[in-house]
Amino acid sequence: MKILDQVEEISPAISYAGLIERIEILRSTLRWSSRLERADIDKLLRQATSLRDEVMQLSHKERFVQAATAAEPAVSADQSRGARRKALIERSFIFEGTFGDNPRLLESLEIAEKAAPTDLPVLIDGESGTGKELMAKVIHANGSRSDKPFISVNCGAIPDNLLESELFGHRKGAFTGASNDRKGKFESAHTGTIFLDEIGELPLAGQVKLLRVLEAHEIQRVGSDETIAVDTRIVAATNRNLRQLSEEGKFREDLFYRLSVIHVTLPPLRERRDEIPLLIAWFGDEAAGTLKRRPVRLTPRLRDFLLNYAYPGNIRELRNVMYRVSCLAGDMADVDHLPVDMRPAAPGSAAAASNVATATGQEPISVANLMSLSDAKRAASDDAEKAFLERGLREVSGTVAELARRIDMNRSHLQMLLKKHGLHSKDFRNRNAPSTGRNGADEHDEEDSDS
Ligand SMILES: Nc1ncnc2c1ncn2[C@@H]1O[C@H](COP(=O)(O)OP(=O)(O)O)[C@@H](O)[C@H]1O
Ligand SMILES: [Mg+2]
Repeated sequence: MKILDQVEEISPAISYAGLIERIEILRSTLRWSSRLERADIDKLLRQATSLRDEVMQLSHKERFVQAATAAEPAVSADQSRGARRKALIERSFIFEGTFGDNPRLLESLEIAEKAAPTDLPVLIDGESGTGKELMAKVIHANGSRSDKPFISVNCGAIPDNLLESELFGHRKGAFTGASNDRKGKFESAHTGTIFLDEIGELPLAGQVKLLRVLEAHEIQRVGSDETIAVDTRIVAATNRNLRQLSEEGKFREDLFYRLSVIHVTLPPLRERRDEIPLLIAWFGDEAAGTLKRRPVRLTPRLRDFLLNYAYPGNIRELRNVMYRVSCLAGDMADVDHLPVDMRPAAPGSAAAASNVATATGQEPISVANLMSLSDAKRAASDDAEKAFLERGLREVSGTVAELARRIDMNRSHLQMLLKKHGLHSKDFRNRNAPSTGRNGADEHDEEDSDS
């Protein structure tokens, strides 16, 4: 049995990750073998016994971290959030600009604190924009490698044929275009941390090579026989479910276990809404600083919207929105300053402004609180512009080129205005008219294609 033989080759000085991996190999051997010979059963039993012995000998450090990740959150959950954050500060924890005191975030930070001084691999998962890269930097900053390089690699952004050279470097002439010797990311990260972002996108061939580096702590440049020792701490991140990918055979199970010795999950922003007000204030101030302006004020309508929005792009989206409204608004920002695709279904209008009741059934907000005069003017002007365009599109049955000609406007400028107002020419097509010829079809497609 090949798998069993592989197990025996693993060195006896085993780490927690290696141990988990061996247990998994045993488990999958048992799961997949249709019938076991007596000799194989004996071998598995011997393996199980030696694993048990090794578990007993786990290093103090590893047991400490393991216990911290599993047990501590329950204990410290009783502590108030403020106290937990303060305790981190008192222990000189470096937050790297991580804000929020949601219990799930604090739990992740506390795990990061424990994991940071060790060299154990950490896997961070969470949706895009939840702060995975920031968390990786937090782990780096709180460890003993903080003054050494932090090298970030986006595994999803490297073409398959360049992956190996990107990660491990190459020798001059190793392939067409390799005009010089080149260092890979692992070598650059030597003595520091390598952040493998979007690890779920790594092709299977790359996974095998990565596994080898994790086991042997050495690399070979493409086209070279020489092995180079690398001492790199690995932090990986993914927005995919690696466990599921490995069940589907798309991600190597052994690599998954190697990488996820410490596993941190960052919850989406919609599951930690209590952080939104703090983040709004923080990013509002940050944007004001960057843009050299006074912090923007928000109308109750916009604030209400921002507090209830679903944030598919998570914290990154909230940050971008605060920068956008800080840039576009005068003293006071309103929902009209939001990107078109984010605005609430019934966009704010001057008419609605004087009589607005939010979807949550609150009382209408008085005009005085709602927006500044200049914002009100802008909203009214936007509304007039939109109504004009809608009427025009109806008249020309959605033919953008014709409308541009009639109102004597540059066509691409008109496309831009349509986009700004979320208008689609195809919605104005005359449904009774016979289907358009090539030109007509192109017309509509063009308008919709870049939206
Ligand atoms: N808890 C947080 N406090 C402050 N800023 C955050 C927080 N989490 C994420 N950010 C910011 O949000 C943006 C996206 O974070 P990033 O780490 O790149 O997310 P991901 O890698 O998960 O896509 C960055 O600008 C980051 O600084
Ligand atoms: Mg990222």
